[in-house]
Amino acid sequence: MTQPLNVLFLSSEVFPFAKTGGLADVASALPQALKEIGNDVRLAIPRYGFVSERKFRIHEIIRLKDIDIPIGKKVAKLNVKSSFLIGERTKVQVYFIDSSEFFGRPGIYQDPKSKKDYADNDERFIFYSRGILEILKLLGWAPHIIHCNDWQTGLVPVYLKKIYSRDPFFKNIKTVFTIHNIAYQGNFPKETFQKTGLPADVFTPEGAEFYGKFSFIKAGIVYSDYVTAVSNTYAKEISESEEYGFGMEGVLKKRKKKFTGIVNGIDYSIWNPDTDQYIPFKYSVKTLDAKVENKKYLLKRFNMKFDPSAPLIGMVTRLVEQKGVDLVIDAFPEIMKMNVQLIILGTGEKQYHAKLEALAKKYPEKFALQLGYDDELSHLIEGASDIFLMPSKFEPCGLNQLYSLKYGTVPVVRKTGGLADTVKEVNAQKGTGTGFLFETYKPGEMVKALARAVSLFGDQKNWQKVMRNGMLEDFSWTYSAREYAELYTKILEK
Ligand code: ADP
Ligand code: GLC
Repeated sequence: MTQPLNVLFLSSEVFPFAKTGGLADVASALPQALKEIGNDVRLAIPRYGFVSERKFRIHEIIRLKDIDIPIGKKVAKLNVKSSFLIGERTKVQVYFIDSSEFFGRPGIYQDPKSKKDYADNDERFIFYSRGILEILKLLGWAPHIIHCNDWQTGLVPVYLKKIYSRDPFFKNIKTVFTIHNIAYQGNFPKETFQKTGLPADVFTPEGAEFYGKFSFIKAGIVYSDYVTAVSNTYAKEISESEEYGFGMEGVLKKRKKKFTGIVNGIDYSIWNPDTDQYIPFKYSVKTLDAKVENKKYLLKRFNMKFDPSAPLIGMVTRLVEQKGVDLVIDAFPEIMKMNVQLIILGTGEKQYHAKLEALAKKYPEKFALQLGYDDELSHLIEGASDIFLMPSKFEPCGLNQLYSLKYGTVPVVRKTGGLADTVKEVNAQKGTGTGFLFETYKPGEMVKALARAVSLFGDQKNWQKVMRNGMLEDFSWTYSAREYAELYTKILEK
């Protein structure tokens, strides 16, 4: 058993307030799960310009207004606003770090139109990290643990160790730093370091210097009390090879004794085909036959013909290199030769938008594309597709394959990171397993795995067995939340 703790959870995205990917889902569900097992968990996130104060009942905290946050030679003003993240079984207090200068914008990390990162992302997240530590004392709430996530929060552990821990209020606070994606590192020029107010020893190779740059993620890895990654295989991959570690493998190796993988869960109150508000025909393991009605509905929406013999392949993804978009584009002619239909929902790099748009024009009967971010459609694609394709080059955990399992949408994935840890290869004769995996990052290998899936689809009895196997798996947060709680307790005991 673990003792109840005060946990401050930090993330630059939290569903339903702000989301670009899986981090937002984790930062929403994990705090709730930790709260449900008895901890006092609170969230602190930036108050982006697009977050509706009316919809989410966000209000000011009068005594937390106009707080000075030093950034280099400037001083920026911070206001704290407050609301709740309301889940099915619990609600979590959320503090919004507000600054019209830094966060009053339409995007989270980039300008939605130009798709360019905001030039002052360094200052924005210095402001956020420092701001959090500045408000804690004013709030009069001391967390036992501050749980940081990804580079945007990487400075919190170093601020705490190098500046704030001199104050008894902060002295005993411990930090956990979770890596959701080591490809995004928050590396900035040396001038950024000068804006942090941190002592010079931090800008050294033993500290947060990374080949002449100042690295926010390295700061998180080096100065936190414990580091985690979102699956076991990913934890291994990023500490063992440069291909996966993006240069941080050595840094992680040094932290080996305080570094572990904890796999993500999913929130079944949001992702469940039996209750999903966004799919017109609800279904469960017992009412599997209803799933095909969603397929008909979705195909109609995209003006595609329904063919019971052709499996519908779905993809919902950020359109970036990580997700294996290149493989899909390279293999397109091969995929289109198969008796399949394909629907892709995604947004990301311009080059992929252009290539996929051209393909959508070329294959209107078999392929439909929706560019953009669309929460409702993402649920519908899970509910309607027969196969979910996720050929990632690397995948720290991946949530979409977990949603797919629950929706009886058989995943075809590359055997990497969290995909390797959560999808079990099908044995067509025995009807065991939950999906299809391929190892080598090559279009031909992906096509072979897809072909195995398409072939089993022809044998509906065994196909349905595989669907059921996936639907019966349990990836609820309960287990992983307990692992985090045990980790917190272990760190505090030391
Ligand atoms: P990552 O965080 O690397 O993008 P995950 O599989 O962990 O990958 O999580 C992706 C999450 O983002 C899922 O909830 C998925 O449904 C959602 N998502 C990705 N792209 C879109 C999109 N274009 N529209 C709606 N939801 C999307
Ligand atoms: C990152 C990873 C993804 C993971 C998510 C939540 O966005 O790319 O694999 O599932 O974080 O941890």
